[in-house]
Amino acid sequence: MENKKIILSGIQPTGIATLGSYLGALKNWAALSDEYDCYYTVVDMHAITARQVPADLRRTQYEQVAILIACGIDPGKNTLFIQSHVPAHAQLAWVLNCYTMFGELSRMTQFKDKSAKNDENINAGLFTYPTLQAADILLYQADLVPVGADQKQHVELTRNIAVRFNGIYGDVFKLPEPYIPEVGGKIMDLQTPTRKMSKSEIADGGCILMLDKPEDILRSFKRAVTDSETCIRFDPDNKPGISNLIQIYSVCTGKEYTDIENEFSGKGYGDFKPVVGEAVIELLRPIREETRKILADKAYLENVFKEGAEKASYTANKTLRKVYKKIGFIDSFLPAKAQR
Ligand code: TYM
Repeated sequence: MENKKIILSGIQPTGIATLGSYLGALKNWAALSDEYDCYYTVVDMHAITARQVPADLRRTQYEQVAILIACGIDPGKNTLFIQSHVPAHAQLAWVLNCYTMFGELSRMTQFKDKSAKNDENINAGLFTYPTLQAADILLYQADLVPVGADQKQHVELTRNIAVRFNGIYGDVFKLPEPYIPEVGGKIMDLQTPTRKMSKSEIADGGCILMLDKPEDILRSFKRAVTDSETCIRFDPDNKPGISNLIQIYSVCTGKEYTDIENEFSGKGYGDFKPVVGEAVIELLRPIREETRKILADKAYLENVFKEGAEKASYTANKTLRKVYKKIGFIDSFLPAKAQR
């Protein structure tokens, strides 16, 4: 236990997680959870950079934690917690804001995309979102950060902030590496396969949510946008739709792209699409059923939140104490151990 490498990752509780989040990140979270000392957090503080309906935000946090447990993340072996329950995240984020450059944050593609989409609410939290993410990671001295490809830039910024801070104060932070799956790192929308699958675009059937009903999943796959050819070939530049389906089928089944191309050689898109849909349905079925069971036991989930926050606070406060000391704060009021 002592020598295990450390993992930290996070997910926003804004609605049910998508198939993209599962294949790009959560599947790895579960796979790595025996081998590493893992901290997995539901990032409610990041979620409020966009306006949320309070009751929905409260409910989806329960759902998100239940989904994580149903994916195979054992809260007894790993630290599963809600970000706002560990105040050190907000405390370190403020410090890191003072070691992060305006220009660096301005270059973040996620900030540029999100502010372009929602120009009436470009708030300061959206701008400094990556420094809070850096705090999430650096508080736990994480070695690895399992994420989808879209989060690579944020992990790189985290490293840059850590290098800058260490350069001034000595070795305070470990430098984390992103861990992005080779296949599944960027799952595309089924209706607009040039765009990442995302919860914000669920209306047209292009996005699959982890708790969707099998018949809805199958319908979305049958309607998936492809191209005017008939050949099932992996070629993301020229055939983004079919390549996305091949990618999804590959992660679901563990088959190589060339094996999939051979398996479906001479067959049409109409044969392939429902097969991919069925593979996704079978992959998600046990998670959906288990999530329902876990959600029925609210007291159990609340106990998971409480124990997770205690374990996380212990580690996080150790790093925060060190940071406060290095920068010249008087730290005697900080709890040395878990707060509760
Ligand atoms: P979020 O909530 O948008 O997504 C959660 C995880 O799912 C991955 N992901 C995808 N992977 C492949 N294809 C897709 N279409 C797809 N959509 C989402 C994301 O890359 C992510 O790994 N900022 C983060 C949350 C966060 C975090 C952290 C992550 C906060 N603090 C610290 C790592 C470490 C986010 O918004 O993820």
